[in-house]
Amino acid sequence: MLKLGVLASGGGSNLQAIIDEIAAKKLDAEIRVVISNKTDAYALTRAKNHGIPTRVITKEAFPVKDAFDAQICRALKESGVELVVLAGYMRLLSPAVIRAFPQRMMNIHPSLLPSFSGLHVQQKALEYGVKFSGATVHFVDEGLDTGPIIIQAVVPVLDSDTVESLSKRILAEEHRIYPEAIRLFIEDRLTVEGRRVFIKDPAVRAIKEAKK
Ligand code: GRF
Repeated sequence: MLKLGVLASGGGSNLQAIIDEIAAKKLDAEIRVVISNKTDAYALTRAKNHGIPTRVITKEAFPVKDAFDAQICRALKESGVELVVLAGYMRLLSPAVIRAFPQRMMNIHPSLLPSFSGLHVQQKALEYGVKFSGATVHFVDEGLDTGPIIIQAVVPVLDSDTVESLSKRILAEEHRIYPEAIRLFIEDRLTVEGRRVFIKDPAVRAIKEAKK
């Protein structure tokens, strides 16, 4: 059973999607800790509702970035986390934390990367006039939303869309592809070569295993 650590700053609907998949026994994982940099993040309530341990690490308590990140790292290690899942975590992590979990940290982003990285991306997509946007799950590297892409989902941008309606349509896809990416990781089906992430076919993998 894979031990997950989830970092979230907000509502935690992606966290909920992962909790639900675990509860439905579709993900062979256990969330060991939910960490937030916001005391009032609803994600913390969602975690508590499911008996998941929580930690709050704020920049008010740890104003020096290195000390803040050391706390995050310590909390993840103390909980025995094997895969770090950033689910609406709105703070950049320092290279030290990222290096502590090489190719064992994922993020979800509400656009088709590399288009529209950073913040307010649904608004940027509407303003630019793209006809399609979507969601991306990627491994985290030291850049902003630049890590190797694991899965993407495409959604149409409608003439009638507002930031809210487009965000809602994208979020529904996020809730589908984030658990899927974690499942592929659990099944050891992800191979990273440079920027590219290859997804092994389970049948091919089974043949290779049998030949060993
Ligand atoms: C999602 O749109 C995610 O892609 C972005 O922040 C939002 C978090 O939503 N990084 P939630 O907290 O999971 O509801």
